[in-house]
Amino acid sequence: MYRKILNILKADNSVVSGEYLANALGVSRAAVWKSIDKLRQMGYDIESVKPKGYRLTKTDVLSAAEFGDGFIYYDECTSTNNIAKELAHKGAKEGTVVTCGIQNSGKGRMGRVWQDKNGDGVAFSVILRPNVHPSEAPCLTLLAGVAAADVLRAETAKDIGIKWPNDLVLEGKKLSGILTEMSAETDRTEFVVVGVGINVNNTSFPKDINAISLKMACGKEFSRADIIKKTSARILELYKDFEQNRIDGIVEHYNELCVNKKRFVRVLDGANTEGVALGINNKGELLVETEKGIISVFSGEVSLRGEDGKYI
Ligand code: BTN
Repeated sequence: MYRKILNILKADNSVVSGEYLANALGVSRAAVWKSIDKLRQMGYDIESVKPKGYRLTKTDVLSAAEFGDGFIYYDECTSTNNIAKELAHKGAKEGTVVTCGIQNSGKGRMGRVWQDKNGDGVAFSVILRPNVHPSEAPCLTLLAGVAAADVLRAETAKDIGIKWPNDLVLEGKKLSGILTEMSAETDRTEFVVVGVGINVNNTSFPKDINAISLKMACGKEFSRADIIKKTSARILELYKDFEQNRIDGIVEHYNELCVNKKRFVRVLDGANTEGVALGINNKGELLVETEKGIISVFSGEVSLRGEDGKYI
């Protein structure tokens, strides 16, 4: 019931009377009060405006009250990817989203860490069970990058792009990272976990991290719950198309968003191959025009550096 009350308070910026809430939900005023108390304990600031009723004054709270069916929420957890993998092994449904207030052992690509100890950003993982050969599963990473870029561009009206394969960048700084993990047999994918971390309301980063948050770019706070719900929904929407059309459905869109396109890149493949990125092909590989001809780079294998070693 507290979820319903939260939604009513959110929809109405003014004061909502206890009587109205009780009638709308068919419960007693005491039951309404209990739910209001529970929401306050979860971190929502709900003002009592006597004798009129209640007004929600703080909306960016991450709590179980924000998430309904299909979401599994923890106030604090290790890594949403690890939890999602455990749940997927136990048979969790496709489309399940695992998220949390604070992720204390977040993982990045290539053994790096993803740190957000204050919980200013968001972390969530989506369980998918695609009927694809394991070699096609990394395409879902690209799909998640496009989904997150779509949502964050719409939320901010900022020029957010994708640094291949799947870092979202804004003003040349990292805004979001995606880590895809899977469980597969030789020719069958059991499940894929797509983990997304987005810097949302962070106000600063350590000097050695070239990162930016939505708040730093836009000068205002964003609702982390909204960002999680909208981005996971967009991932699942693009995934429906992926089931029909595979990566063909997003190649053009990805290439429009790809900030590496037509730019000099160095492929960190051991040989430091250099060239100009041309965009992805319909296997999700990045095509790079080098002195020796066009080579294709597979997302699982390498990272890129821009000219003079800078981030892009
Ligand atoms: C990267 O840029 O290296 C990838 C970062 C991915 C971070 C997300 S946060 C949610 C999910 N859980 C994790 O432990 N990692 C991913």
